[in-house]
Amino acid sequence: MSEHPPEPRSTSSAGGVSRRRFLQGSGGALAAGVGTAAPAAGTASAADAPRLRGEVEVRFELNGEARTARVEPRTTLLSLLRHHLQPPLTGTKEVCDRGNCGACTVQIDGLPAYSCLTLAVDLAGRRVRTIEGVGTPESLHPVQRAFCEQDASMCGFCTPGFVVATVAALEREPRASLERVKERLSGNLCRCGTYPHIFAAVQEVTGQRTDEVYREEGR
Ligand code: FES
Ligand code: FES
Repeated sequence: MSEHPPEPRSTSSAGGVSRRRFLQGSGGALAAGVGTAAPAAGTASAADAPRLRGEVEVRFELNGEARTARVEPRTTLLSLLRHHLQPPLTGTKEVCDRGNCGACTVQIDGLPAYSCLTLAVDLAGRRVRTIEGVGTPESLHPVQRAFCEQDASMCGFCTPGFVVATVAALEREPRASLERVKERLSGNLCRCGTYPHIFAAVQEVTGQRTDEVYREEGR
């Protein structure tokens, strides 16, 4: 049988100052420190209020439109898109939120990037393209159409990231080989295992799905 954990040691130090008192005191000192770091009276204006709350203004391009956002330095692009914009852009998915799965992939200046690992403050002057900027339900991008035709989506959580990454890969290299595209999609994971369908969609867009391939598949 395991022993009950020992009782916590007394919080009083040899000098007679309790841990609780010490923390209370240091909290007060920290508060005082913040106070002294603020601008001297008369130098701060109303316009400084967001800055003093820790917000930063960032101007960037989102799906072809100029945007301005006020964000805390810790805000990720994924969080900005899904939780701070009005209306929110929820096509970009949050799955692992730590750079493991690629579900949150967007394009920044034409290159695929994990929005969960990108700080919004780093977007100044940059071009962001999300799945909402790739196509619309009325006018699908050829990659989106091929994903539909090849049934390349099951739960769909990975799909926007795969589409955005595939579009980025084929815009850089429209006739890329399948192996090349696989390499460029290696940062995107599909837990449902739709890879054969995704790669069939890629081949359809690049014109590599020949009659022979269809015949082999019995289509
Ligand atoms: S949510 Fe960003 S990589 Fe998984
Ligand atoms: S379709 Fe479900 S994770 Fe890819």
